[in-house]
Amino acid sequence: MADTTTPTEEELAAAGVRLDIAGAVATVSLARPERRNAMTGRTWTALAHVGQSLPESVRIVVVKGDGPSFSAGIDLAMFTPEGVEGERSLMRDLRDGAPDHAALADTIAGYQAGFLWLRRPGIVSIAAVQGHAIGAGFQLALSCDMRILADDARLCMKEPALGLVPDLTGTKPLVEIVGASRAMELCLTAREVSAEEARDLRLAEAVVEGTALDETVDDLVAGLLDTPAEAAAATKKLLRQAPDNTLEEQAKAEREAQVERLAALARNERD
Ligand code: ACO
Repeated sequence: MADTTTPTEEELAAAGVRLDIAGAVATVSLARPERRNAMTGRTWTALAHVGQSLPESVRIVVVKGDGPSFSAGIDLAMFTPEGVEGERSLMRDLRDGAPDHAALADTIAGYQAGFLWLRRPGIVSIAAVQGHAIGAGFQLALSCDMRILADDARLCMKEPALGLVPDLTGTKPLVEIVGASRAMELCLTAREVSAEEARDLRLAEAVVEGTALDETVDDLVAGLLDTPAEAAAATKKLLRQAPDNTLEEQAKAEREAQVERLAALARNERD
């Protein structure tokens, strides 16, 4: 059952997240710069809660990180038997024979919920990335509809190098953006991608000087807000489903969406 209550300051602070809502724009900041915005299970469940509880008036979500790095990925303490203070240690649980595999998969599904909502049609999500975006941090940026990079950005899918797979919903956008072969090369070497290369690979909509990152994102937000909300949501839905549709299916989806749009415009004219 979705928790639509607004997350409390305490919940967000404990998760290393800050949420600022100003009219139609929500800014979600990773706020543990002293740990390079390393994220824990609690961070991801808090992000899911933010997504579930976002007011309908919010049309744009900007995801950013405090300090020199967007995010250093998973908090490496999650892999230690001691775990992260105040959170269950999955490694200790596994070592002790619990949870079973189905329960662990459910836990991961809860974490993935923190990333999935960023694609939904009613909002446009933008990642503003400076410094490192590693592992879960790269996947968070990939979960957003668009990425604006500072010129010092470094992207890295580190999971395979740690014996893991990327499981926070980043593999689909990565393959869709760079293709399967390049995605394999990036993941299986776990090498860092510079901002310039990220732009060439279409992983960034723009690369700007670090000092211009906020202003560039603000300009993009202003441009996005100029488009009527319903048309933007319907168009995003169409674009998101395009890769999985046949041409005929997509043409049908366009017709159906347009009939709804035209009817809504006619209704507005009448009223
Ligand atoms: N988990 C926990 N703590 C971290 C993490 C992390 N992922 N990343 C950085 N920190 C801590 C450091 O231990 C350090 O703590 P300290 O001040 O107590 O020594 C502090 O944050 C600052 O880190 P530095 O390494 O000093 O910062 P720097 O700017 O030089 O480097 C970088 C940043 C490149 C991100 C580096 O910290 C790093 O490589 N971190 C680990 C990245 C990683 O392997 N992440 C896991 C990816 S896989 C996944 O996400 C599923």
